[in-house]
Amino acid sequence: MEEKSVKILVLGSGGREHALCWKIAQSPLLEKLYCAPGNGGVETIAECVSLDIESPPAVVKFAKEQAIDLVVIGPEGPLVAGLADALMAENIAAFGPVAAAAQVEGSKGFTKDICAAYDIPTAAYGRFKTAAEAHTYLDTHPAPIVVKADGLAAGKGVIIAETDAQARAAVDDIFDGAFGAAGAELVIEEFMTGEEASFFVLTDGVNALPLATAQDHKRVGEGDTGPNTGGMGAYSPARIVSPALLEETMTRIIQPTLTAMADKGSPYRGVLYAGLMLTEDGPKLVEYNARFGDPECQVLMLRLKSDLVPALMATAQGDISDLQLEWHDEDAMTVVMAAQGYPGSYSKGTQIKGLDAAEADADTQIFHAGTKIEDGKTLAVGGRVLNVTSKGKGLPAARDKAYAALDKIDWQEGFYRRDIGWRALDEG
Ligand code: AMP
Ligand code: GLY
Repeated sequence: MEEKSVKILVLGSGGREHALCWKIAQSPLLEKLYCAPGNGGVETIAECVSLDIESPPAVVKFAKEQAIDLVVIGPEGPLVAGLADALMAENIAAFGPVAAAAQVEGSKGFTKDICAAYDIPTAAYGRFKTAAEAHTYLDTHPAPIVVKADGLAAGKGVIIAETDAQARAAVDDIFDGAFGAAGAELVIEEFMTGEEASFFVLTDGVNALPLATAQDHKRVGEGDTGPNTGGMGAYSPARIVSPALLEETMTRIIQPTLTAMADKGSPYRGVLYAGLMLTEDGPKLVEYNARFGDPECQVLMLRLKSDLVPALMATAQGDISDLQLEWHDEDAMTVVMAAQGYPGSYSKGTQIKGLDAAEADADTQIFHAGTKIEDGKTLAVGGRVLNVTSKGKGLPAARDKAYAALDKIDWQEGFYRRDIGWRALDEG
């Protein structure tokens, strides 16, 4: 690749995509960066275009017209819809797995069956197509137990049932259509206890390069309470993932999964995100995602020292055997600012002020999610709205910078958790 020779299209509109665009925009290889649809933050560094990113023909048409060299697919929807397949059929490099490989996220039962066949540690489970069979399973599997819609449900299809009645109600709700087509089938699995970690590898289908570790905070409330969200904050590295644990995760979870996908004739290329439960019996797989985590991507991009573009290209082209990545030694933290009411209903169109002052510190980046710029004003138009992301020497320093920046943001209709990183900070 030569200087300023690469045209890239990033797909998505979240904090994850702003962070990817921010990192890509720093590459000396970049000639032109597009993002569809983007957001109020992305439009300051990329040309935002309105495209139906769930429509492979629409994306392929645009990519051909603009002679795009690489399409970076942020969210899972287009992956499961076969966008990488459609791009590759036109010889356009795509960062993200083909549809058959994206099934690791698209079907929870698919992933559980791989775990069973390749002896990958995960919760014991059953797969069900009818309520009657699911209820029979519950007769012999007491609560607490976890009921999951099989398909994509925007993070909402998982019910942690503390009682048998809740488990049975969840089964009925799912088969009654609470999650639409995603609930045509369901998985019931053993409840696991432990701390969770997000584990990312770049893979070309054979080789796998672990990225920096991270932890997310999925619950809306402080102390990890209240309903699940897309993620309220993250930090990296997650020191709880020791080198030995990393090794164990690679050999017992990641490598057998890549073997399974190759055996199925659909090798997995892209970033593979393993949600891990660190149990007393070692790391176990909670679920796979076929993309970067959001907000984990924000802290990874702030810590990544190397150019991201060659890494994305090598992955998309199917050979990362020579790839190495360098990371900043500093810790990073991102705190999500969301609209009051999220993850329930919230109002849109309120104005956010103070962003320039908040971003004045060289170690702080504010990655936008649900924002748009109108008449020079930044407006909140989504649930998760901003990701205030800082790095510093040690997690307490990163935390202090992020919260100092948050103090400067004037947005009455927003809220954020004040305790991001609490487990790691408590453990010292
Ligand atoms: P998932 O979408 O499968 O990652 O599930 C969302 C969240 O539900 C996870 O991050 C966990 O906090 C929780 N969860 C899912 N499966 C289990 C399980 N088997 N045991 C305990 N918690 C779980
Ligand atoms: N941070 C959780 C997710 O991206 O699914």
